[in-house]
Amino acid sequence: MISFSSSSICFIIFLSILLFDSVLLCNGGKTSIYVRKAEKTVEMPLNSDVFQIPPGCNAPQQVHITQGDHVGKAVIVSWVTPDEPGSKTVVYWSEKNCEVKKKAVGKVYTYKFYNYTSGFIHHCTIKNLEYDTKYYYVVGDRNSKRKFWFTTPPPVGPDVPYTFGIMGDLGQTYDSNITLTHYERNPRNGQAVLFVGDLSYADNHPNHDNVRWDTWARFVERSVAYQPWIWTTGNHEIDFAPELGEKKPFKPFTHRYHVPYRASQSTAPFWYSIKRASAYIIVLSSYSAYGKYTPQYQWLEEELPKVNRSETPWLIVLVHSPWYNSYNYHYMEGETMRVMYEPWFVEHKVDIVLAGHVHAYERSERISNVAYTIVNGKCRPTKDQSAPVYITIGDGGNIEGLANNMTEPQPEYSAYREASFGHAIFDIKNRTHARYSWHRNHDGYAVEADSMWFFNRFWHPVDESSQWG
Ligand SMILES: [Fe+2]
Repeated sequence: MISFSSSSICFIIFLSILLFDSVLLCNGGKTSIYVRKAEKTVEMPLNSDVFQIPPGCNAPQQVHITQGDHVGKAVIVSWVTPDEPGSKTVVYWSEKNCEVKKKAVGKVYTYKFYNYTSGFIHHCTIKNLEYDTKYYYVVGDRNSKRKFWFTTPPPVGPDVPYTFGIMGDLGQTYDSNITLTHYERNPRNGQAVLFVGDLSYADNHPNHDNVRWDTWARFVERSVAYQPWIWTTGNHEIDFAPELGEKKPFKPFTHRYHVPYRASQSTAPFWYSIKRASAYIIVLSSYSAYGKYTPQYQWLEEELPKVNRSETPWLIVLVHSPWYNSYNYHYMEGETMRVMYEPWFVEHKVDIVLAGHVHAYERSERISNVAYTIVNGKCRPTKDQSAPVYITIGDGGNIEGLANNMTEPQPEYSAYREASFGHAIFDIKNRTHARYSWHRNHDGYAVEADSMWFFNRFWHPVDESSQWG
């Protein structure tokens, strides 16, 4: 009979733990063992505190900011006044020089949607800001002034650290509130949000009740009034409702959310680009024409060669409908866009593609599927170190609930997938390394459930999976 000493037993247990860990960490397709109870998501009622109307006569509400130019020296400030237009002016000053108050004057818009009439929607671009500077700004007039602040990004440059938050398909349920709270409390401190589409889900209400556009904007104000969110359009922004006489797609979105599309020579607010710190961000539209000869196609074809990786090493693409998705929801919806644009992404070595739409989380290996020529039969995703990592993060927590039905077996290209709500952080350290982490809403806690070190495709195109040995 073999007998073990206590030290041998400890050693065996230690080896077992190591082995178990290596199985877990091995990059090669993991479906998370964590199964979030598939409870129904419930929208927060209209009288929730997060939707509260700020006090004061005609007080500005729904305050939000986004980048206002191509390089990060301008900010678009937007807000809504409910009763009358009021002041169109933003008063702002730098923390470094608070004696000098400056003013910028914006424009006011309104729109009607079926039986809804909007408040007065203000958009004001503040230009010629200093980089890396905290600014205070005030909107409103008389006794209803409201003060906020933001910090401009550092100058564009190859080794500038910068931290992006990533969220998608947020909606306005109790789960949405948890996701936003977890993002705000994340100690990695996201400095701007890359939002991959589907904002308010107002269109899930009778007559696309646009009051839900207002409540959503009041809900997220606590973050987006203080740091820019970079907007992508999803299917819930289309609001195409000919049965209601509403035949112009994207009407509420385009009135409420202005983006700096002209600064990147785009002809529509649905596809555009910005530079921010060491990142070049390209926003695409899954729901605008993207076939050959279309404006979006022509723009992207001209845009990709403009990216100078010596200036902005990190090339990030945002799109709503994922190209690689192994859930049984929206399966293949992104396929025709993939066929059109994937060869360009491989040619230009895109680092990461972020998508939403599927209400769950998934991260791919670096793969491409660009060899197919009709006759050669090569139509399988294959490992490709020039290809991006595809991340689906439509897990903000909206009213439609979780996507928890997955295709089986898990495809080889799928590195990690989990049917939970959450948010992610893309933390750029320098031109070669960025730390990515996805944080599951684990009831009251944000748990880092998936992470990887990204190696830049231009400066350090080494296989990241080798980090797991
Ligand atoms: Fe969607």
